[in-house]
Amino acid sequence: MMSRPTGREGETVHPDAPQVAEKGQDALVVDNMDVWFHTPAGSNHAVDDISFALGVGKTMGIVGESGSGKSVLAKSVMRLLPARGVATGGQVLLCGNDISGLGTRKMRKHWGSEVAMVFQDALTALNPVMRVGDQIVEQIREHTPLSRSEAIAKTHRLLTEVGIPSPELRSRQYPHQLSGGMRQRVMIALALSCDPAVLIADEPTTALDVSIQAQIMDLLREEQLGRKMGMVLITHDLGLAANYTDELMVMYGGQVVERGPTKEVLAQPSSPYTEALLRASPRLANPPHTRLETLPGRPPAILGESAGCGFAPRCRRAQERCLVERPRLTLTENGESGHGVRCFYPVGTPGGHEALKINVERGTTAAGLELR
Ligand SMILES: Nc1ncnc2c1ncn2[C@@H]1O[C@H](COP(=O)(O)OP(=O)(O)O)[C@@H](O)[C@H]1O
Ligand SMILES: [Mg+2]
Repeated sequence: MMSRPTGREGETVHPDAPQVAEKGQDALVVDNMDVWFHTPAGSNHAVDDISFALGVGKTMGIVGESGSGKSVLAKSVMRLLPARGVATGGQVLLCGNDISGLGTRKMRKHWGSEVAMVFQDALTALNPVMRVGDQIVEQIREHTPLSRSEAIAKTHRLLTEVGIPSPELRSRQYPHQLSGGMRQRVMIALALSCDPAVLIADEPTTALDVSIQAQIMDLLREEQLGRKMGMVLITHDLGLAANYTDELMVMYGGQVVERGPTKEVLAQPSSPYTEALLRASPRLANPPHTRLETLPGRPPAILGESAGCGFAPRCRRAQERCLVERPRLTLTENGESGHGVRCFYPVGTPGGHEALKINVERGTTAAGLELR
């Protein structure tokens, strides 16, 4: 029987408690994940062959514009996708256990104690007609052997920990009686209540004021460090990704277009899409007086199996090859660090430089995008 690295002092661990990641084992491994939605309008390959491993206590950032498949990926890991009209493929290992075949019902026993999720909007995660304290107590009682009074004590401790003053009083309130920031903290307390090995945070601060955003992110990081909890942080905010993640995956049209250590990916982006995202991100802008560019065009609405690179229509470097052939994820020159890119003409390479030069000279890309 493994001991829980996340166990708190004075708490006993039930012999049937679910396993958490062992030393040297990844907390979460996703292998060749695919998700298709079959709708009357056609099939949408929302997650296209994504693989990654999340080390114990590490943070994996997932960035990309709206519609790129980030939430679907997270829900697929959580087994939260609807059963109808959805096809999935690939393997998911949670603390070493294969959970790929599990339906939502069987997955319940892994929720909370092995993997938990924090959403953008706490109102979708909290039960509106139940006092917030009771929601946390109930979850603790369902997943741990703690008695009711122990669970109540733990709930108050958790609420204090996430920065909620007067936890006894707050426990008795309903979600609508709390501010947005307070509700987000309650949801985080709920997610942490059974000491998950992995926390998936999907835009956890997007709905909050900037000042509260930083507080919540710092809180998540603190909790993570104390618990050696792995975290998947989904955000469209590159500034958050830069500050709070170790590794980064950049998604576009359901695919990973670039991945690697966060610092390296942001300092030396290799994908033209990552470069464009960086240019459009004011918070990471280099000198204060550089003119901000917006990212022209939109991500594809329905992601079919187009022949070429999904980003080609919006890419300043696009050549004929990009329209007919799909690039594979390959290691960059700094490949030892795991930095990979899905592009025929990566930024910072002679080929990429040449492609941009050709397009600038002719004033248009192979996909017809006009360049100034
Ligand atoms: N339940 C669903 N049925 C059909 N298509 C869906 C469903 N949920 C998401 N999608 C589609 O999957 C794609 C990815 O969506 P999502 O993961 O929510 O994007 P993101 O979180 O990156 O903004 C989008 O094209 C979206 O329309
Ligand atoms: Mg989303």
